[in-house]
Amino acid sequence: MKIDSNLTIPQPPEALSQAGLQFDVATEEDFDEIMAMSQHIYGGLDYLPTRYISWLQETNRTVIVARKQGKVIALESVCVIDDGETMLVEGLRVAPEERGKGVAGVLLRFCSELVKSKYPDVKVSRLTRDDQLRPKDFQKYRIITKQGILLVRFRAEDLKLRLSDITLHDSIYPSLSTSSSSPPPVRLDHESIHQLYLRSDLMKGLLPNATVIQDWQPFKLLPSNFTILLKKDIDWMVNDVSSPTVASLCTFPFKVPIGDNWYYLNIDMYGKDLNLVKQQFLSHLECHTATLKGHVMCQMFLDPALWKPMADFCHSALNVELVKEYTEQCVVESDAV
Ligand SMILES: CC(C)(COP(=O)(O)OP(=O)(O)OC[C@H]1O[C@@H](n2cnc3c(N)ncnc32)[C@H](O)[C@@H]1OP(=O)(O)O)[C@@H](O)C(=O)NCCC(=O)NCCS
Repeated sequence: MKIDSNLTIPQPPEALSQAGLQFDVATEEDFDEIMAMSQHIYGGLDYLPTRYISWLQETNRTVIVARKQGKVIALESVCVIDDGETMLVEGLRVAPEERGKGVAGVLLRFCSELVKSKYPDVKVSRLTRDDQLRPKDFQKYRIITKQGILLVRFRAEDLKLRLSDITLHDSIYPSLSTSSSSPPPVRLDHESIHQLYLRSDLMKGLLPNATVIQDWQPFKLLPSNFTILLKKDIDWMVNDVSSPTVASLCTFPFKVPIGDNWYYLNIDMYGKDLNLVKQQFLSHLECHTATLKGHVMCQMFLDPALWKPMADFCHSALNVELVKEYTEQCVVESDAV
């Protein structure tokens, strides 16, 4: 099935056709080949298996595969956001045996040209990386914002018991208890999200560079972006609707290919108050472990200064396993020339 019959794929540059590369709009039939070349990507936390089919339906997204001798060897997706001014590059991957030969660079440039021809208002290209940027990357990109990445894993059933212990023992974690001076976090409905994020300036100072990053996707505070965001299953929380100092967005758990019965929870946390961050983190965990059974990889993106105290808290108070040391999520931007 062709997802976008209006999209004309231009002929590849001469060098590429000589190298035998061909570009096509991705289809449902490509799924198995894409999964086959994606094994072990993102340490087993690849979101693409659950997102691929819905990506193909999104009207503002272009998904391109590169083939060599008929076989899929690379994929890139570009989503146009920010009122049509930003192309967001996602899902980039090259088959292991083809890496290091320049395929990603060629695919990035090809997709950029293609998307610009279809969306002439696009001014910048953005992407989110978690690898070490090289000096060359700093010449190519501007850094929009950085968040620390805290990755922990646990069994949902164990954590549920641990969380009920914590709420029972107010004396051990007074700052987290319901009887403490800070009121419990507030879950936001669509109306309050609009009010806080779009109709007031309250979130601007709290969000890094006035950008909401939700599950790796950076969005400016624009109504068109909130139409996209509000279609997703997300828990939106703040500590206080009239004067928020901590805000968070948590995905609903979704399956990842690390193993059978493994789920992924992604929490984007904004704010610098450690106790409020702990409180909101626990509240998201409580909500999602109530009925969940199985293993969970929970990735929280937070202010870099909070990484260490939150890692200590996860280890000592929650007994959960830290999967990796400090890494960073970095949103970068370049001109779409
Ligand atoms: C990262 C990956 C796509 C690079 O593929 P590759 O074909 O070996 O890369 P190339 O030989 O073309 O060389 C690197 C080029 O890709 C770009 N690149 C490398 N890593 C990148 C990344 N994580 N995101 C975006 N671009 C990246 C480099 O900037 C460079 O571009 P340039 O030609 O303009 O300098 C490949 O190693 C891969 O599939 N890794 C596993 C999946 C993954 O980590 N994807 C990154 C998503 S954030």
